[in-house]
Amino acid sequence: MKKLLSVLLASLMVISLVACAQQTAPATTEAAAESVETAVESEAPAGPRTVRVGVSIYTFDDAFMTLYRNELTRYFESKNNDQVTYEVTMQDGKNDQAEQTNQIDNFIAQGYDVLILNLVQSTSAATVMDKCAAAGIPVVFINREPSESDMQSHNTGDYAGKFTYVGADARQSGRFQGELIADLENKGDLNGDGKLQYVMIEGDPENVDAQYRTEFSISQYKEKTGNEVECLDDQVGNWQRAEGQRLAANALTQYGDQIEVIFCNNDDMAMGAKVAIEAAGRKINENIYLVGVDALAEAVEAVIAGEMTGTVLNDHNGQSHAAVDCAIAAANGEALELYNWVDYVKVTPENASQYK
Ligand code: GAL
Repeated sequence: MKKLLSVLLASLMVISLVACAQQTAPATTEAAAESVETAVESEAPAGPRTVRVGVSIYTFDDAFMTLYRNELTRYFESKNNDQVTYEVTMQDGKNDQAEQTNQIDNFIAQGYDVLILNLVQSTSAATVMDKCAAAGIPVVFINREPSESDMQSHNTGDYAGKFTYVGADARQSGRFQGELIADLENKGDLNGDGKLQYVMIEGDPENVDAQYRTEFSISQYKEKTGNEVECLDDQVGNWQRAEGQRLAANALTQYGDQIEVIFCNNDDMAMGAKVAIEAAGRKINENIYLVGVDALAEAVEAVIAGEMTGTVLNDHNGQSHAAVDCAIAAANGEALELYNWVDYVKVTPENASQYK
């Protein structure tokens, strides 16, 4: 409705400018231009159009999402020009869905032009879409993928093409983790019993990234090697470094030398696990292996130094740029594809220097 009004106002303005120019009936084109300029100065608001973008990140306390949101802000700034300014309001969801729902409700009440949402709980997507559809506000979901059925069921009527998910297929990152171990000369099977004894440290299990990485790292390892696997321990570290360290330390105390690999759903937890592994007197890549996901700078350095077996690039640049491009397209009234995928990349000692 607001959009319709501003379009109407803009057309009225153009009509009145033309009328103005006609009334003054200037003798030369130069004079005509001058008179239009004067009319613009006195009748139209000066300055560029402002597009208000509401962003809510599930928590500011997340290493990967911090890289992501900083790049999101920087890339929006690079898109400002004489015609348009992107006014970005970035909120911290504090890992609390009620808090984030309030932020979203406020964005809607204030008539923001477009929202970019990293949901605390991806199951809230349906309600969010219902509210945004009623207000006619486009949404770009990022990082936490809503269920396919919620995406499909809202992709009808007026709201079709008004929302999208920008992200990476977490199954791919899981498969890459499995391959990082399967491609080792000994296939990670340090004790040569034909079985991989491993520990899994999971991110927030509500998030498909955690579910898929946990599942596909192991299924891909089995498929590529034909080896059996034995899960010694599987714990939830909620993407946090301190939890990764605590859980790895516990597992090392309980299972000691039996552990051949620690799979972490992300690098921040892997960096914590690395501290625990070193404190337990074990040596990564000699008598234990460690893999993560994200390619945080520290993890890439560790891979290069031989202190981590490998990681997987979660392309925060590619994803944040795609999210901004989609938000801008939507604010311009263009229809969006339902999904916008960005690839993961396997990071090994051979190629790690490219991802520093
Ligand atoms: C994942 C990422 C994690 C964490 C999570 C948040 O894609 O690998 O480190 O940021 O998203 O949802």
